[in-house]
Parts: sequence; C-alpha cells; structure tokens
Amino acid sequence: MARKVKETDDLPKAKLNKTSIKNTKRLFSYIGEHKWKLYLGMFFLLLTGGTALLFPMMLGGLVKTIEQKHFDAINKIGLYLLLVLTAQSFFSYFRVYLFVNYTENTLAKLRQAVYSHMITLPMTFFAQKRVGDLNSRMSADIAQIQDTLTTTIAEFLRQFILIIGGIILLLVISPKLTLMMLAIVPVVAVAAVIFGRFIRKTSRAVQEKIAESGTVIEETLQGITNVKAFANEFFENRRYKKSTEEIVNIAIQGGKYRGGFASFIIFCLFGAIVAVIWYGVVLASHDQLLIGDLISFILYSAFVGASFGGIAELYAQIQKAVGAVERVFEILDDVPEVLEINEHRKVVNRIAGNVEFRDVVFTYPSRLEVEVLKGVTIKAEKGETIAVVGPSGSGKSTLVALLLRFYDPQGGKILIDGKDAKEYSLTDLRNNMAIVPQDVLLFGGSIKENIAYGKPDATIEEIAEAARKANALDFIDGFPEKFETLVGERGIKLSGGQRQRIAIARAVLKDPSILILDEATSSLDSESERVVQEALDKLMVGRTSFVIAHRLSTIRKADKIIVIDKGLVRESGTHEELMQQESGLYRSLSRMQTELA
Ligand SMILES: Nc1ncnc2c1ncn2[C@@H]1O[C@H](COP(=O)(O)OP(=O)(O)O)[C@@H](O)[C@H]1O
Ligand SMILES: [Mg+2]
Repeated sequence: MARKVKETDDLPKAKLNKTSIKNTKRLFSYIGEHKWKLYLGMFFLLLTGGTALLFPMMLGGLVKTIEQKHFDAINKIGLYLLLVLTAQSFFSYFRVYLFVNYTENTLAKLRQAVYSHMITLPMTFFAQKRVGDLNSRMSADIAQIQDTLTTTIAEFLRQFILIIGGIILLLVISPKLTLMMLAIVPVVAVAAVIFGRFIRKTSRAVQEKIAESGTVIEETLQGITNVKAFANEFFENRRYKKSTEEIVNIAIQGGKYRGGFASFIIFCLFGAIVAVIWYGVVLASHDQLLIGDLISFILYSAFVGASFGGIAELYAQIQKAVGAVERVFEILDDVPEVLEINEHRKVVNRIAGNVEFRDVVFTYPSRLEVEVLKGVTIKAEKGETIAVVGPSGSGKSTLVALLLRFYDPQGGKILIDGKDAKEYSLTDLRNNMAIVPQDVLLFGGSIKENIAYGKPDATIEEIAEAARKANALDFIDGFPEKFETLVGERGIKLSGGQRQRIAIARAVLKDPSILILDEATSSLDSESERVVQEALDKLMVGRTSFVIAHRLSTIRKADKIIVIDKGLVRESGTHEELMQQESGLYRSLSRMQTELA
C-alpha cells in the first residue's frame, strides 16, 4: 500500500507528434561518438527478442519427442536449449551494458549543456522561475529521460518484437486456436492494465491524505508553544481526527477496488488460460494439434499477453519522457546573456568609474504592473562615495541590479565613463564591479576557495593579504585549519560579520573600479559592524562606491547622499546640506534614528 512516490511519477505526459520526433533527433545529437553503442545495443536487442521466441518452440519440441517417440532427440534439444539460453544471457548482458553506457554519456553531455546554458541566462529567467522548482524539475525530467533511454525504449521494442513474432508463430502452430486466443487474451490484458492504473490512482489519493495528516502533526509540533499558549489541544485533536477518518474512508474504498481487481484477475485471466487450454485440448483430441504444440502455444500466448499488458505502461513512460525532453530543451532554447566566459577573468577594459543614471525608468519583467524606478538621475564621479537611502521597497537594490546589468532599464540610460552601459560586454562590466550584499552566500569549500572567488588564480599570499585588508585574518587564523577551514553546509558556520569580511576579501582581490555595498552592515551587531565598516572604509578608497545603508550614521562622510522614495530621487546632497532642509526626508529620518539610538 505505501508505495513510494517516485519523483518522476508526477511528470505530465506529452503527445507524440512532429515536434517530439524533432526533439528526439535533437536528443540523440548528444550521443556523439557513442552512437555505435546504441546501434550495437539495438542489434543485441533484436537478438534477445529472437532467442526469446525460440524457447516456446523448442520446449514444445522437447515434449513432442515423447509424443512422436523420437527419444534420441531429447538430449539434442536439451543441448540446443542450453545453447540458446547461453546466447540469450550473453546478448542481454551486452544489450543492458551498451544501453546504460550510451545513455550515461548522452545524459552527461545534456546535463552539462543545460547547466552551462542555464547559468548564462539573464536574471529575468531566474526571476520568473522558482529556483527550487527548476532544480527538482530538472532532476525529475532528466531521471525520466534516463529511465527511458536505458530501459523503456528497449523494453518497448522487445515487447513489440514478442507480440508480432509471437502472433506469427501462434498462427503457424494453429490459426484456429490463435483466433480464439486473440479474441480473449489481449482484451483481458488491456483491461487489467486499465484497472491497475485506476487502483494506483486511488492508492495515490490515500497517500496524499496521509501526507496531509502528516502536515497536521508537523504544524502542531512545530508550533507547539502556540498550540499550548492558545489552549488549542482540543481543536488540533479534532483536526487530526478528521484527517485520519478521511484516510480510512478512502482506503476502504480503495480496498473494495483492489478486492474487485483480485477477483477480476482470478476469474478473467485464469479463465482465459483455462479457455485456451480447454480449446487446445479439444483440438488435440480431434488430432488437429499435438500436445507439444499446445505447450508452445500456451507459452507464446503468455508472452503475447504479458507484452500487451506491459506495452501500455511503457508507452505512457515514453510519453512522459517526451514531455521531459521538451521541458529540458525549453531551457536550452532560452536566450542567454552575451558573456565572454574566460577562465582567468582578466579585466580586459579597465573602467575608470564615472557612473551616471540618466532618467532611468524600470519595471521588473515579472511584475509589469509596478513601475519601480520612475526616472532616476544620479551622477557619480570616479572615486566618489554615493550613499543611497530610502524606505525599504523604494528601489535601492533595484538600482544596483541595473548597474550590474542584471536587467536593462526600459527608459533612460546608465552611462559608465560616458558610454552607455549596454555598449560594454557584460563580462567586462561585471569584472570591474564588486558587490558586498547584506547576506553573503559562501560556497561549500574552504575559506581560501571562497575568497579566491573574486580572482580564481590568486596566490595564497594574495589571498592572505586580501583577508588582512578585510580584517578577516584574525578570525581565520583562530581556526585550526586556517585558510583550509571548510565552510558552507558541511563546514563550520561563520557569523554574519565573518561572512561579510570574507566577501570584502573577495572584493579586495577583485580590485574593482566600482564597489557596491547593499546594506552590507545592516544585519550586524555593533561590534562586528565596527570591524566590517573599518574594512569597508579601506576598500572604498579610490573606487566609485555605491553605499546603500539603513543606519544613516554610517554614511555621513559620503560625497553625496541620495534619498529615494517611491522610485524617485527626493533629495540629494551632502549630509550637512540635507540636514539644513527644514522639512527634508533625510533630516527627519536622521532625527528619528538618533532619537532611537
Ligand atoms: N526580482 C523582482 N521581481 C519583481 N519585483 C521586485 C523584484 N525585486 C524587487 N522587486 C520590487 O521592486 C521594489 C523595489 O525593491 P528593492 O529595489 O529591492 O527595494 P529596496 O532595496 O529599496 O528595499 C519593491 O516593490 C519590490 O517588491
Ligand atoms: Mg534592498
């Protein structure tokens, strides 16, 4: 009953049509030099199909030696059977081996192609698809393709060979009995499949209900303090009881169907066998059929029946795989950003760092109804520090995303050193910038590797120097393994301030002309903030810096402070200038924060 739901179970099916043929061709283009393995595998597949068809004939022949009193042939046929068996095992081994081999090679190429394509897709792609979804969908889709290429297609063809070959041989043995058999067996087999699928659906429904009641438990336990504080034990009890009672009802209903299925199988399937054997014996009694042939006949019928039953499910699997292939290619057909991926990421064209937002209008492609920036103009000379403040949701991070060209503005321009940002290559542009965000993501790996993310070919001396400048050397030296200390999921957990300093060290190594600090110190306690701020101050020297800050105390020294609200620049000037504006937004924000502090 508790059948495990595989990740591929939920995949939708796709119709087989012209596109799927095109996609299949495209999929097979990833085979490359491994194509011969597929062909040879197919050849072995044909051979196994052929040898499988020999068995019933030979077994029948073995029985016929008795009927026809050819006793001397018994050992000979036995020996042939052994030979066929050996050949069959041999072919099967190579068939499976070759199919797995070509599939894995093809899929590795497909996976690499999809991954390397996916990470070059523009931010709009990631904004529209949930990353978790994408990941699990990709793995389910690829698993489906994998199953299909390794086994489903081969099985499908094998069953097909068995059905066609089996029916021909049945007709050869006895056309009368064949017609009688074909009138019953396939019908019963197909009915069994449909019935079986229906039952699986009901057991799926039970599982979903069970999962639902599991959620009730989970929610209650996670929020147990709430449950108790609200004295809601009774309410939760009722909720759980209702949910378990629903399981009982659905499961009992499912039990009825399964009972029905069992009787159906017993009556119809065995009934069909009985009918065929009965008619066969009738024919034999009229000397129209040898018992040995009847045995061959029964075995072929079993082959044909089983293949009819299996082929429907295989076809469904193939349809799912076709859908999976379509979805994978959908990703591959999305238009990527134009990046010049190079391994060493040398800055080819050094940017001086004059930045100008000129009347920038922007709306996120995934949320067309909200205009986030409504004509923003900001000018930063090279080396200046520009602070951007404003309520949350006012579009500060969006400015940064535009500067990094994660998106392009719909109106206005961003000029860098007087040239439209669109005229730079994305790789060049981004190589000249570094960002220290509020939440720094470290990759699984050593501290050394994480710092070197800013410059993959950095030497250990450079890395240590960067760490020193980032005020990170002290805490790194405090770990027994120093720069080799593992961080991320399987390593140690660094505090927010420590992660921030790793990010600063990354930026130091990258040595950018334009530096972006998006609330870099907002989530730190005041002690870490002090160390991080000190490192940031050093980092900002000589670079055009955009500092987005929550705490206004950190940006007093900025060359220019921009206050944005609801997508527009409301005020701009130095701290002193802005403080002089009687009813200014900055002044009131600043007052509020000093009072709170
Ligand atoms: N990826 C996105 N897709 C759609 N809307 C977004 C996206 N990121 C931010 N927004 C919206 O844009 C507005 C500005 O966001 P943001 O620039 O992050 O504000 P801030 O950094 O000033 O707090 C908000 O209304 C936010 O909901
Ligand atoms: Mg923000």
